[in-house]
Amino acid sequence: MKKVSIAFYCIAVAIMASCGNQQNKKEEIMDEREQYRPQYHFSPKSGWMNDPNGMVYLNGTYHFFFQHNPDSTVWGPMHWGHATSTDLVHWEEQPIALFPDSLGTIFSGSAVVDKDNTAGFGENAIVAIFTHHNDAIEKERTGLHQYQSLAYSTDEGKTWTKYEGNPVLPNPGIWDFRDPKVMWHEASKQWVMTLATKQSVTFYASPNLKEWNRLSEFGEGIGAHGGVWECPDLIELDSDKGKKWVLLVSINPGGPNTGSATQYFIGQFDGTHFKSDHTDTRWIDYGPEDYAGVTFFNTGDRKIFIGWMNNWEYANEIPATTWRGGATIARDLKLKDVDGQLFVVSEPVKELETIYGEAGEEAEVTVTDAYDLTDKVKRFKGQYSLEFELDAAKDFTIHLVNSKQEEVVIGYDAKDNNYYVDRSKSGNTDFKDNFVLKATAPRIAKGKLSLRLLVDVNSVELFADGGLSVLSNLFFPSEVLDGLRIAAPEQLTLKNLKYQGINSIL
Ligand code: FRU
Repeated sequence: MKKVSIAFYCIAVAIMASCGNQQNKKEEIMDEREQYRPQYHFSPKSGWMNDPNGMVYLNGTYHFFFQHNPDSTVWGPMHWGHATSTDLVHWEEQPIALFPDSLGTIFSGSAVVDKDNTAGFGENAIVAIFTHHNDAIEKERTGLHQYQSLAYSTDEGKTWTKYEGNPVLPNPGIWDFRDPKVMWHEASKQWVMTLATKQSVTFYASPNLKEWNRLSEFGEGIGAHGGVWECPDLIELDSDKGKKWVLLVSINPGGPNTGSATQYFIGQFDGTHFKSDHTDTRWIDYGPEDYAGVTFFNTGDRKIFIGWMNNWEYANEIPATTWRGGATIARDLKLKDVDGQLFVVSEPVKELETIYGEAGEEAEVTVTDAYDLTDKVKRFKGQYSLEFELDAAKDFTIHLVNSKQEEVVIGYDAKDNNYYVDRSKSGNTDFKDNFVLKATAPRIAKGKLSLRLLVDVNSVELFADGGLSVLSNLFFPSEVLDGLRIAAPEQLTLKNLKYQGINSIL
């Protein structure tokens, strides 16, 4: 009997040891992940990345190109990197699409599907319209160093040919003359290009993508002008008030929380002129790290936006190893009416569900002082979504923490009616003295408050009130922020509290 129990004991110990080993193995694998490598946001395998470029959907595949310096982790000679996805969530990096050539390096731009072969490159050719940036001409200081060119692919983005007639839109003498975003304007049956021209945008039209004529200019005396206008996009969105045109314009510097950010105007576009319905300045995302975002071409009425999760103030200095820079989560843009005024809302695409892991839900949680959720979310290792609602807007803080007492604090301040993200104690913050430590976003909604956070190992994206107030932020803790606590100065009831693990796409 004794022998049997000893044998049993030995077997049990052996099994436990092997389970323990497996567990350790698993943990080792987790620990092998590169520090600060986003686990479910796109980042290039190596090298530098900035703006999303040429985003286009064709035959079930989303193509994401991006400003890329493959040879360094700082900005340099620009190429178009390329990644593809069938669900906006899993990205597969492809060979570089566009390399610098005798006309210059390849700055930002867009891509269209030329289904009617207007350009003559072939039916359904993907045509990229981008800025050639010529360093040699720039040194001459004539202001003629940026001009617009074409490249096309007739095999769904696998191989690219530069158009021999480049550039298709020469520079008329405007120092900042770049980032063409082209769309098909059905009402006037022509291609319309929205181009950043210093602190304005200029619209051009073309029947064939090769010949362009100037339509009009927008921007003087309206919107934010703290810096150069870049990476515009003109899209049509549906609303309760019918269809509206929305113009996105990135600006650097001059954003609401220092440095780079993307403002938007809601109005009308008649095929020639854009007119804004409002004079106040509005931001797609108030966070310091969402720049140069634009939308995919060829997705019908659905408009899907991706930004670069970085800020030119310190883009080249954020902690990095073999790569630097990444993308925001893909977001659906829609219009929402608040007390008779329309605003753009952004929300993570529903496809994110494909990488949802385990979840927990609690109907009503009374927070007196603080509510610690660490036990519930630790297993997600800093990769999760958190949601809750409040009947009315009241002060609260959400603390993403680790055992080193580092934290990122997300909160709402009723006195200022602001959401905020405070990363002043988030670990490595002193690589650049203007790294924004606390960012705020006005609350636009009234009444009931709803909040959603997307937490990845080095970022948090706050979508408040259905995406009316958005704040995207990076952080660089010395170990993952896998703990979570919600606190409030006065008793608070969280409704529909939900925490949802998000699996890695790597
Ligand atoms: C925006 C931007 C664009 C330009 C590109 C160069 O971040 O400055 O205006 O085309 O980056 O990489």
